[in-house]
Amino acid sequence: MELPFAESWKIKMIEPIRRSTRQEREQWLKEAHYNVFQLKAEQVYIDLLTDSGTGAMSDRQWAEMMLGDESYAGATSFYKLEKRIRDLFGMPYVIPTHQGRAAENVLFSYLVKEGDVIPGNAHFDTTKGHIESRHAHAIDVTTDEAKDTQLEVPFKGNVSLEKLEKVLTENKGRVPFMVLTITNNTVGGQPVSMENIRETCALCHRHGVPVVMDSARFAENAYFIKTREAGYADRTIKEITAEMYSHVDAMTMSAKKDGIVNMGGFIGMKNREWYEGAKLYCIPFEGYVTYGGMNGRDMNALAQGLDENTEFDMLHTRIHQVAYLASKLDEYGIPYQRPAGGHAIFVDADKVLDRIPKEEFPAQTLTCELYLEAGIRACEIGYMLADRDPETRENRFGGLDLVRLCIPRRVYTDNHMNVIAAAMKNVYDRRAEITRGVAIEWEAPLMRHFTVQLKRLG
Ligand code: F0G
Repeated sequence: MELPFAESWKIKMIEPIRRSTRQEREQWLKEAHYNVFQLKAEQVYIDLLTDSGTGAMSDRQWAEMMLGDESYAGATSFYKLEKRIRDLFGMPYVIPTHQGRAAENVLFSYLVKEGDVIPGNAHFDTTKGHIESRHAHAIDVTTDEAKDTQLEVPFKGNVSLEKLEKVLTENKGRVPFMVLTITNNTVGGQPVSMENIRETCALCHRHGVPVVMDSARFAENAYFIKTREAGYADRTIKEITAEMYSHVDAMTMSAKKDGIVNMGGFIGMKNREWYEGAKLYCIPFEGYVTYGGMNGRDMNALAQGLDENTEFDMLHTRIHQVAYLASKLDEYGIPYQRPAGGHAIFVDADKVLDRIPKEEFPAQTLTCELYLEAGIRACEIGYMLADRDPETRENRFGGLDLVRLCIPRRVYTDNHMNVIAAAMKNVYDRRAEITRGVAIEWEAPLMRHFTVQLKRLG
């Protein structure tokens, strides 16, 4: 008989978690103003808020922590990380930062001016925030295929070359760079094909526009290229990574995802001028250029994490678990962004809670219901996160309204996936009774979803 699939690691250390009662959860959620970001972690049974900084480091990463060099300048840990980044991505100039948004902050401080236009395949919210706070415009050029959650296509994160060309032509001289996000988090952890990376970069370069890769989940993207795109089945993840980055000019990295560290990030650049420019912002915002917001030990752990998470077995174990959760949801008929993404399943809340009007935030409501059902903390990636148009201040209801079930790396087992699917099924089965959503009582002017205070309607 063929041997079944199993994880490519075994467990050396565990962290207890505890269930709660529905009564407790009702109280806690009310105290959190129906915003799961405001819950205490100990009030959560299975935490699917994010895969960012929530992964489990390997024994080898922990061993590297002990070897960290904490020298202020010129630490060996920096050179170890710099070498790994040069080897994997071909980026000669490296600035460490404390996380991904800090990389954006440093690089964009140098590159983005008021009135600029920065196209991208669904900029992540902090990326968009860093553009809009500088009074520049983030324009989404993702393929329209991403909007239809039931359409089964292999590379739904792709850039629409027609949309991109239009933005580049209409805004000549105002586009300092384009952001290419792999995988495309906002539309469901959907990958971008090598063909699309190549063509996007060629189009930008014809217009004299450089490309910055937002790289948080680059390894998962490489995995999908290997397993879905013709011609790549026999290539290693490291070879595919090198090819992806051969096309772009720079990268910002949140190392908290595919670097499998709890905190960290960096900027990689091919252009010395950009490096010199970004350095000027690194020193006051992040720290001296050879640590820029990271401990030596963390740079060591990251160098190790980048190496082990660009091995096929590690990625296969992870993506297999996300696909397993998707197969359970399929069994129960629950609609999600198809096919299953790399780091998460994005449940289509508009389709599940179809009696709740947009103005009452269906995905935010479903997030609350899932927490009340089983203490599972998911994350709204929908109308709340989409925020308001900076000029008109109207809610942006144009995109998808999704609930992200985000799976931390190497943390939960398939039994936890079974619990998540069963809880989602229970909510789905009583969806006809859920007719009212939530209303905003207080919100911040930018990135409101973290701190928004809501009340339950009905
Ligand atoms: N880019 C992408 C595609 C991201 O998903 C994130 C973070 C960032 C940049 C910013 O990086 O958090 O290290 O500052 N995403 C997390 C998430 C927070 O939950 O998806 P950061």
